[in-house]
Amino acid sequence: MRVSSGVSGLHSLIGGGLPAGRLYVVSGPPGSGKTTLSTQFLVEGARQGESCLFVSMHESRADIIEDMSAYEFGFDRAIETDRLTFVDVFSSDGKRLFRPPGKHRDSSGLINRLTGFIDANDVERVVLDSTMLLKHFLSDTDSNTIQFLTALKRTDATTLLISEMTDPSAYADEQYLSHGVIFLHNFLEDSGMQRGIQVLKMRGAAIDTDIYEISFEADGITVGTKRGVR
Ligand SMILES: Nc1ncnc2c1ncn2[C@@H]1O[C@H](COP(=O)(O)OP(=O)(O)OP(=O)(O)O)[C@@H](O)[C@H]1O
Ligand SMILES: [Mg+2]
Repeated sequence: MRVSSGVSGLHSLIGGGLPAGRLYVVSGPPGSGKTTLSTQFLVEGARQGESCLFVSMHESRADIIEDMSAYEFGFDRAIETDRLTFVDVFSSDGKRLFRPPGKHRDSSGLINRLTGFIDANDVERVVLDSTMLLKHFLSDTDSNTIQFLTALKRTDATTLLISEMTDPSAYADEQYLSHGVIFLHNFLEDSGMQRGIQVLKMRGAAIDTDIYEISFEADGITVGTKRGVR
């Protein structure tokens, strides 16, 4: 089964919607559109009556409503419904869900609370903004990150994990562990900033891995033509 991403033009790069129930990484530099793309994905789910969860460690509910209100795809309306749950990990709700592990920094409590929430609420779409969240709450061992991502892969939800790529010269664990990786690019050109999208991998789907131009319109990110082709 495929789920609609809510991003116009993306489906032609992956032969349809996103394969459902899988874990995807959305990577890119600052301002490249990671949060925009992810909120479009959740609003699309909410519109279809699915239960959606946005977990943020960057922004409060008020901040994200304000930022995403610059678009007209209806994030502000969706978040007022019970279909889209927003959790800021530093809020009191967030603290209940993400109580930092004790001094042993055992990640299993955190994993169980999050996957328990997803299962109990039949959450179909999840966005985690961002991997800095993992680094903050999990002790910095590979096995904790692998356990966390493996648990997310086992839920029935289709999940987007936003990854900052702090080291652009190296791929991160989550990019190998995930079922798919979507890259957003910023290119500084004579004509100004050009932005692009590239589907780097998508297990089980024939994909076009070329870079396509994207534009930020009132209805969010729209995929345009192949970069360099006029
Ligand atoms: N209505 C709009 N039309 C055009 N561009 C917009 C509109 N609203 C916001 N933008 C731009 O979209 C850009 C992408 O923002 P977004 O928050 O999705 O990026 P990000 O990759 O999540 O960034 P960060 O790494 O800082 O979290 C912003 O820099 C903003 O200027
Ligand atoms: Mg962001």
